[in-house]
Amino acid sequence: MKQEEIKEEIRRLAKERNALLLAHNYQRDEIQEMADITGDSLGLSMEAARTDKDVIVFCGVHFMAESASILAPEKIVLLPRPDAGCPMADMVTAEGLREMKARHPGVPVVTYVNSSAAVKAESDICCTSSNAVNVVNSLDADEVLLVPDRNLGRYIATHTDKVCHFWEGYCPTHDRLKVADVERALAEHPDALFMAHPECPPEILKLAQHICSTSGMYEFARQSAAKKFIVGTEAGILYRLRRDNPDKEFILPSPSLICPNMKLTSLEDVLKSLQTMSPEITVPAETRERAKVTLDRMLAVPRD
Ligand code: 13P
Ligand code: SF4
Repeated sequence: MKQEEIKEEIRRLAKERNALLLAHNYQRDEIQEMADITGDSLGLSMEAARTDKDVIVFCGVHFMAESASILAPEKIVLLPRPDAGCPMADMVTAEGLREMKARHPGVPVVTYVNSSAAVKAESDICCTSSNAVNVVNSLDADEVLLVPDRNLGRYIATHTDKVCHFWEGYCPTHDRLKVADVERALAEHPDALFMAHPECPPEILKLAQHICSTSGMYEFARQSAAKKFIVGTEAGILYRLRRDNPDKEFILPSPSLICPNMKLTSLEDVLKSLQTMSPEITVPAETRERAKVTLDRMLAVPRD
């Protein structure tokens, strides 16, 4: 089948199944182009909860489809590539977290949405890259456990008076970015602003003029008077940055900023998923209810 035929068939089947196609900002260009909605990890799950469609085709990684299923349990959530996981989310297990909690009794656990439903269920509140500092500062506690991203954790620690204990997980993609890569890009483009995702290591964040989530980058690029940006996050974000800001230039400081898991999903996978209505992602009821409490607590924290 030719690409155009596949796209046409996806559109036809999505209509027939009453399905919504969601794509994370790191997905392949052609997947983002096909999607009804593109967005960041949490934004997409909230779209899943909000929609009146029966089926969600989640083009992203496993924890995102789980979050959608937690927030919208009555809907069928399909993950076209069940092998698309998040290595950082896999760095912490519910059992490992229980051990950490036992070492810090009574200290609240703040868990990044990049985590399994089972880990969320063991936590007190979730956070995303866009609200992590607000979430931590909203807690009535002097100490916090920050799970699983050590880089996001250390970033939060610079914006709170609370004592922070970190889980030593990290995103292999963002962790690959080196100071030398950014310095080279800045030397080649002295008129560019450097924006970075908080999953980057602390020494990278020190060089950034703006630190934000993937969706925050669209907003920053749109409203900034600058014409050039060095982009410290996964390459997939460039598709919409360039499409929506044709008068601006976006530079990736390293060719290694590619998440292999985010690139797994192809148009063929999406089509097959709609044809077979699989693989479906569900979360056991007991885990789902506890995980939902942690997501709901996060959603109740006021935004800036
Ligand atoms: P956000 O899109 O929520 O900023 O997350 C980035 C990421 O790495 C998702 O896996
Ligand atoms: Fe996980 Fe990093 Fe890939 Fe996001 S970019 S899915 S955090 S490995």
